Amino acid sequence: MKLLILILVVIINCVVAQEFGFANVWVTTVDGTVLFEEQEPAMFKWLDSSSQEDNPSDIDVVISVNNDTAYQRVYGYGGALTQSSAYLFTQLLEQNKEYGTEILNKLFSQDQGIGITMIRVPASACDFSLSNYTYDDIPNDTALTNLSIAIDQQYTIPILNLILEINPAIKLIYSPWSAPSWMKSSDSLDYGELLPSMYDVYTDFFVKFLELYYYHENIEIYAITLQNEPLFQPMTYPGMYVNSSVESQLVKLLGPKLEKSGLNTQIFIYDHNWNAPEYPMDILQDPDAYEYVGASAFHCYAGDVTNQSLVHDQFPDKEIHMTECSSGAWSPEFGENLIWQSQNLYIGSIENWSSSVLLWNFALDLEDGPTNHGCLDCRGFITVNNTNYQSVQFNVEYYGTAHYSKFLSDPSYRVQSTQYFPNPNAEYLQTCISSIAFQNQGDNTNHLVVLNACNTTVSLQMNVGLQNKYLNYNLPMGLTTFYWAI
Ligand SMILES: *[C@@H]1O[C@H](CO)[C@@H](O)[C@H](O)[C@H]1NC(C)=O
Ligand SMILES: *[C@@H]1O[C@H](CO)[C@@H](O)[C@H](O)[C@H]1NC(C)=O
Ligand SMILES: *[C@@H]1O[C@H](CO)[C@@H](O)[C@H](O)[C@H]1NC(C)=O
Ligand SMILES: *[C@@H]1O[C@H](CO)[C@@H](O)[C@H](O)[C@H]1NC(C)=O
Ligand SMILES: *[C@@H]1O[C@H](CO)[C@@H](O)[C@H](O)[C@H]1NC(C)=O
Ligand SMILES: *[C@@H]1O[C@H](CO)[C@@H](O)[C@H](O)[C@H]1NC(C)=O
Ligand SMILES: *[C@@H]1O[C@H](CO)[C@@H](O)[C@H](O)[C@H]1NC(C)=O
Ligand SMILES: *[C@@H]1O[C@H](CO)[C@@H](O)[C@H](O)[C@H]1NC(C)=O
Ligand SMILES: *[C@@H]1O[C@H](CO)[C@@H](O)[C@H](O)[C@H]1NC(C)=O
Repeated sequence: MKLLILILVVIINCVVAQEFGFANVWVTTVDGTVLFEEQEPAMFKWLDSSSQEDNPSDIDVVISVNNDTAYQRVYGYGGALTQSSAYLFTQLLEQNKEYGTEILNKLFSQDQGIGITMIRVPASACDFSLSNYTYDDIPNDTALTNLSIAIDQQYTIPILNLILEINPAIKLIYSPWSAPSWMKSSDSLDYGELLPSMYDVYTDFFVKFLELYYYHENIEIYAITLQNEPLFQPMTYPGMYVNSSVESQLVKLLGPKLEKSGLNTQIFIYDHNWNAPEYPMDILQDPDAYEYVGASAFHCYAGDVTNQSLVHDQFPDKEIHMTECSSGAWSPEFGENLIWQSQNLYIGSIENWSSSVLLWNFALDLEDGPTNHGCLDCRGFITVNNTNYQSVQFNVEYYGTAHYSKFLSDPSYRVQSTQYFPNPNAEYLQTCISSIAFQNQGDNTNHLVVLNACNTTVSLQMNVGLQNKYLNYNLPMGLTTFYWAI
């Protein structure tokens, strides 16, 4: 009899567990002692409104995930495969193919790594390149006879092919830092403007390099930005000033050429800081340009993420992407980065309508390079030990991104998550708890990421909207991801 009861209890428990399920839990703490480590799963319980447990007084925050309220599609999280990063991956692979492959998997594989799905590639030399180049540096080659992507065949394309083998669905965004010097007022890759006589030639240049990628390398480029940081003219490395009226003209020239070519590549505009949202709005206000714009792209180095919403609110049918944000020696502290990047990028940018969040270099070396006279103290997702190219260090950008990117399954959408603080004594926690939720239709899962930037452990009740189930968890200071099947 005892045995029978025991068996019954076990069976009932199993049924209950099956019915309400559980969430997998992953944690990174601000002190860096727990680094994206999977925890014991958290069991869901039945949310009975008559029960005391519905709102126990020891709960600091109740977060409700409502998957019936969906916002924008989210394509993913990522960074940039600069020529410097591609070079470092190549060195790792040359020293030890197995180890180099493992590192690529840790970044780009969803099973074996953190599942990065978006990559930005500089379509010319930038501040992280081994030389100064564009795809056509033959003076006065207005017929673009000598345009070539051979420079990318050295490091970038072989590494991209390995990455696309890991995940063929990864989306690529290409951004030039400068047009060829012979198209510019400065006759240099640094500073200067595009000569008006070159607008037509330069838009042909885009179509031609996209075709070379597609037809010769079998690599489809998802989107281009017309110019990296068009309002900034660097004096010591490639860059080009392009105001919004010139960019608008380029959109109107390039759009029809892309359409005619049959390529599916989208045009993203702006690609610069949060502080001048009027730049993309100027372009979107022109109906002839509007129809060819895929999205507005933002960087994090000036202004505030909330300005992304100004552009979204006025042009809700055009996507927003966050295409660059670097960290570096100016932000050395693990926990401060984990918090700032979540508040402003991983959560803040998505809350303000972004469809992707990209940081900067995937890989830099112990000297923060190879650099090309631009940023001398930037930090990548990983730091490669360039003494012998046999080890790497994973940085906070890797662990932070992991919490959001690993669980996406295309198509993923941001869904509503609301916060409520039942205990008046814990109301101050409102300023230090943030969260973002995703519905991953690709594999019918959801994930919620909660940032606890408070100075204390916080007790959470997570409610899953329509399903009347909840779970409890004590959130350590740092990031906690809950991942469950619908
Ligand atoms: C939300 O999740 C439930 C199952 O929990 C599912 O039936 C429903 O389709 C989801 N809602 C949306 C909008 O996908
Ligand atoms: C690229 O150009 C910059 C400035 O224009 C120069 O300082 C740098 O040495 C050049 N880089 C290489 C690798 O030649
Ligand atoms: C390129 O064209 C400009 C203007 O026609 C001319 O002054 C210059 O000499 C040419 N440069 C070369 C290298 O042919
Ligand atoms: C440019 O391309 C033309 C035609 O293929 C070729 O004859 C010429 O040698 C090339 N010029 C340079 C400088 O590579
Ligand atoms: C934008 O740049 C072009 C080319 O230099 C210039 O002709 C035009 O006046 C500028 N427009 C504005 C609004 O500054
Ligand atoms: C937001 O955008 C406006 C222009 O529309 C600009 O004046 C303001 O400085 C920006 N604010 C921040 C904080 O980025
Ligand atoms: C934009 O982000 C800020 C900071 O994360 C957040 O407070 C605000 O609610 C967001 N705006 C919208 C429209 O969601
Ligand atoms: C880099 O590798 C070398 C050689 O193995 C080692 O001596 C050195 O301590 C490493 N540096 C760092 C920062 O890990
Ligand atoms: C945490 O911060 C709150 C609000 O600033 C403060 O009242 C509380 O004393 C702090 N607690 C600890 C343990 O530092």
